[in-house]
Amino acid sequence: MKGKTAVVTGASRGLGLAVARALLREGAKVVMVARDKGRLEKAAASLDAPEGAVLAVPTDMTDEGAVKRLFERTVDANGGVHGLINNAGAALLRKAADTSLEEWNGAIASNATSAFLACREAMALMPKSGPGGRIVNIASVTAKTGAAYACAYAAAKAALLGLTRSLAKEAAGLGITVNAVCPGAMDTDMFQKDTLDAASALFDVRREALLKSALSAVPLKRLLTPEEVAELVVFLCSDKAAGITGQSYNVCAGYDMH
Ligand SMILES: NC(=O)c1ccc[n+]([C@@H]2O[C@H](COP(=O)([O-])OP(=O)(O)OC[C@H]3O[C@@H](n4cnc5c(N)ncnc54)[C@H](OP(=O)(O)O)[C@@H]3O)[C@@H](O)[C@H]2O)c1
Repeated sequence: MKGKTAVVTGASRGLGLAVARALLREGAKVVMVARDKGRLEKAAASLDAPEGAVLAVPTDMTDEGAVKRLFERTVDANGGVHGLINNAGAALLRKAADTSLEEWNGAIASNATSAFLACREAMALMPKSGPGGRIVNIASVTAKTGAAYACAYAAAKAALLGLTRSLAKEAAGLGITVNAVCPGAMDTDMFQKDTLDAASALFDVRREALLKSALSAVPLKRLLTPEEVAELVVFLCSDKAAGITGQSYNVCAGYDMH
């Protein structure tokens, strides 16, 4: 992936940071995106990257104008864009009956609208940047299985799969592939804080008991690491994956088989 530029959203921690690291290893230039500037810059500085290979651009991916400016800045700095990994997202653990319209709209915005806004910019720029454009959307296995107490999140991730298949058809003629990766429970802040801690508070159950219960539905009996999920993302961004588009792949330690 030498000489290619990939925009990675949600890159200040967790899966996004692991994807940024893996893309750099493959020789790509990486544009790292998240809202919290300090945390993003710290994450960028933690990477072992050649001069000029990393650009940190604090952006709220739900803000249409800010997303436009992100891609303008990317092209100004690197001359084009070849890859987009829509990884930014947020969990929402809530009983359906207690989910407000504002929370529902927020979940759709952060997990699905953010990707649409970025894809729209990237699809206009990728054909001018050279052949082999790649978009990878990070959904969730819950988009396929559903998830109790996470209806807005699971619905937003299912929307992302519809977006993936539709754009794959539309972008095929532009030489761009569009695929999705559907992780299961990964050992990141989102799982530890926004899922386990949140569920522990919501249901007044010890987090150890919740983790045990969650893993009982996972054949491999462990959480995934962001690094192992990142490997599939990087493969889908590579020339080796040129024949794959409109697909969604689960990396979920077998969870979907239950
Ligand atoms: N962890 C899991 O078990 C799991 C399972 C299935 C799917 N996933 C999906 O995998 C992806 C990565 O998850 P993760 O566990 O690595 O999450 P995480 O640890 O919570 O990290 C989320 C990243 O997204 C950024 N972000 C959130 N909202 C944003 C916005 N509006 N604009 C720009 N950046 C934003 C965050 O930084 P700021 O807050 O500073 O913006 C952070 O860098 C997400 O799409 C998630 O839904 C995770």
